Amino acid sequence: MLTSRAMLIAAFAVAAAVIGILAVTINFTPSPPPLELKAAENHTQAKPALPLGVSPQLYAIAVPHSREPTPELIALGEKLFKDKRLSVDNTVACETCHDPAKGFTDHRGNSATSAGVKDQHGQRNAPTVLNAMFQSSQFWDGRSATLEDQAKLPILNPVEMGQKDPEDVVGKVRKIPEYAQAFNAIYGNNGTYDEIASAIAAFERTQYSGNSPFDRFLAGDQQAISDSAKRGWELFQGKGRCSACHAVNTVSPLFSDQKFHNIGIAAHKQDFAALARKALAILKTGDAKQIDELALQTNYSELGRFLVTKNQADIGAFKSETLRNIGVTAPYMHDGSLASLWDVMDHYNKGGVPNPFLDGGMQRLGLSEAEIDDTVAFLFTLTDDRFADFNKTELARQTSLKTNRTQRETDVAEGRKGDLGDIGTNPDLRNPATIGAF
Ligand code: HEC
Ligand code: HEC
Repeated sequence: MLTSRAMLIAAFAVAAAVIGILAVTINFTPSPPPLELKAAENHTQAKPALPLGVSPQLYAIAVPHSREPTPELIALGEKLFKDKRLSVDNTVACETCHDPAKGFTDHRGNSATSAGVKDQHGQRNAPTVLNAMFQSSQFWDGRSATLEDQAKLPILNPVEMGQKDPEDVVGKVRKIPEYAQAFNAIYGNNGTYDEIASAIAAFERTQYSGNSPFDRFLAGDQQAISDSAKRGWELFQGKGRCSACHAVNTVSPLFSDQKFHNIGIAAHKQDFAALARKALAILKTGDAKQIDELALQTNYSELGRFLVTKNQADIGAFKSETLRNIGVTAPYMHDGSLASLWDVMDHYNKGGVPNPFLDGGMQRLGLSEAEIDDTVAFLFTLTDDRFADFNKTELARQTSLKTNRTQRETDVAEGRKGDLGDIGTNPDLRNPATIGAF
């Protein structure tokens, strides 16, 4: 007969196996068929040498063979991505909020959420564009299926680039001779809204990122990361329970299951149930633009994935973001409410903020201060070498914030305070990895 401990271990093993299977069956969205290019046979396609950590399998899904963007299209997309003239008053480009020098985010220290035209702040924090090409959906709530659909929204959002109508944008771009020329050379016309989005997406599909110290460690270089970071990697998969949602394997190296979970980030601000009822009334006529405006300009933002699916289980749920380059993309979470990776760890350590829709995967972790430091050290090894200097500066800056941690509730994390729910009064805080459960 099985002892209860053996049964527990067996149950964990099954769960771990299921997680493993889920991780490899994540559905990623392939890029849509390209718009027709003029004299396609004259365009050579860009076939890149992929860096360590970017899986060829995933790349082949994101950029199917023979759909590699041409260098001309990529150059046009990059120019559009960086051009403030795409906004209504020539002040904001995609790059303003996704700055390549800052890991393709806006890295807003205090004000947390991104600022668009006339210094208006939306409700959400800009995620990185790095590796966005590999995601199964775009935005924190997954409301766009492809990079092409995504690119059309910020240009028209009143608090981002502020254009009224796609035709206004197209009209403006057509009047700029270098664009008229480029669209003509590539598409044989003088530019459409779909082509603008398609060119921007082509540029974004060159922003794959790997080459981190952790990638070198996985490839066998034991010296690539510190002992502290190695302990952190173990905690990440074991006692910290992170890999349940931030799944990673060689085929899917994003540290994300591409699913949506309520981890209690917005829970302290909202009565979710009342807000959801009101949202349902408004959403009756919902289209992509309406959801985009509710998400960025109103308190309904905190409903997260629910605005897209209207499914109760998605209230307050957001996408498990990729953790690649996480060292250089502060502040954290969909609302930018956590300033450092130590604050993030404190949030998880106490099991998130309780609310009726909290994901079952969120539990008190009881990590010690040393274990939190180790996990943070591991997270800082996930940054691409091209941002190595910035990563170092950020590590120093975040370390200096360690003494001021508003999220910290050690007594709650270690089960001495608060409602323990079904965890019981004497939770087993041993590392499941060390007792052979994972
Ligand atoms: C005013 C700041 C701002 C501007 C300008 C802006 N973005 Fe964003 N971007 C954001 C924010 C904030 C989000 C997250 C919004 C959400 O999830 O609801 C986002 C999300 C994204 C995502 C999804 C990434 C992910 O992980 O899901 C991509 C891709 C992206 N933006 C590309 C662009 C492109 C292309 C442009 C220009 C056409 C652009 N952005 C303009 C702030 C901005
Ligand atoms: C139940 C699923 C789940 C678990 C477990 C989980 N995460 Fe997350 N993680 C998420 C979701 C969902 C988000 C985005 C939440 C939001 O913005 O509201 C997120 C966001 C983050 C972010 C911020 C990303 C960004 O770009 O701002 C970091 C860092 C992070 N998680 C690290 C961790 C670590 C470290 C652990 C383990 C201690 C962990 N996560 C465990 C689901 C999870």
